[in-house]
Amino acid sequence: MNVDTYNNREESRKMSRSLLRFQDQDFEDILDKFRFINNRRFHNVSSKYTYPNDGIEINRLEISHLLLKSAYGGNFSSPVHDKLRNGISVLDVGCGAGHWVIENAKDYPNSTFIGLDMSPIFPTENKPKNAGFIECNVLEGLPFPSNTFDFVHQKLLYVAFSKKEWLQVVKEIVRVLKPSGYAEFMEVEPCLLNAGPIVKSINEKCSQYLKSKNIFLEIALRLKDIMDSTKSFDEVNIEKRILAAGKWGGNFGELMHLYLSMTMEASSALVFENTKRDKYDKFIKTYYEEIEEYRSSIVYKRFYAQKLQPFIIREHKE
Ligand SMILES: C[S@@+](CC[C@H](N)C(=O)[O-])C[C@H]1O[C@@H](n2cnc3c(N)ncnc32)[C@H](O)[C@@H]1O
Repeated sequence: MNVDTYNNREESRKMSRSLLRFQDQDFEDILDKFRFINNRRFHNVSSKYTYPNDGIEINRLEISHLLLKSAYGGNFSSPVHDKLRNGISVLDVGCGAGHWVIENAKDYPNSTFIGLDMSPIFPTENKPKNAGFIECNVLEGLPFPSNTFDFVHQKLLYVAFSKKEWLQVVKEIVRVLKPSGYAEFMEVEPCLLNAGPIVKSINEKCSQYLKSKNIFLEIALRLKDIMDSTKSFDEVNIEKRILAAGKWGGNFGELMHLYLSMTMEASSALVFENTKRDKYDKFIKTYYEEIEEYRSSIVYKRFYAQKLQPFIIREHKE
């Protein structure tokens, strides 16, 4: 695959336009325009996705990238290190600001890394030649032929899809993955462990808002079942990390506290759109105090599995 094709935004637009069969007018309408709510910038694509796409959000994504890489001791768990060294094609679905793509592209210069996102926040400068970006809503289908990639990665899309859409996305990832290639997902459980009463009530308010948008928040509890239901993967492996959600977890916890406060701020623009600022501030102060008092933690899971060869039929236990 020629990365330069993807590095140029105009080229990427032309390609998406033809592959996704947008009319010129429709296509222009969904590009380069944003919504602003409570001083935060959001994408304007017709999607449920709840977080903003401004500079503060890019910083939040960078912090989560650092935290998760450190918690897992690396950027992925699939056994693809040697293949990446030799040179393979990799897709990162919902790549955000491209932290995962760019870091891996630097680590594995013989491989090609394509980031895909509906928000164009991937950097346009100072990126390795083997890293590229395509602007696309995955729910419209991935603009690649079947069996294109050796490794497809997707991280933290838990506020993006309904349950039905999750199955659609997993099937689309299976389609573009080569037989024997690896798919890897990282998601987070919806509730903090050891949550106090205010933490529970704020989580509940966020959950209600997201459920009203038909977002399937329980994905980290159900993704293995969804992957198994496609009957396209060999054994699905799960790597779980329970991480301190606050300063009680030392230096790591300090950074997690910063990340969580940015996450609450990002969600609050929509979830607490109609709550008075002083009431919200009071609530949120108690939220952080409780996390320390109850030593709350947060559960992340990596799921990875190899796509079966077409002639292998694997029966999954119900
Ligand atoms: C929480 S961010 C995670 C970004 C990146 N994976 C990371 O870990 O830094 C989720 C990303 O998914 C993208 N996204 C949400 N719904 C999408 C869709 N339907 N198609 C493509 N991208 C989507 C958002 O624009 C956002 O950049």
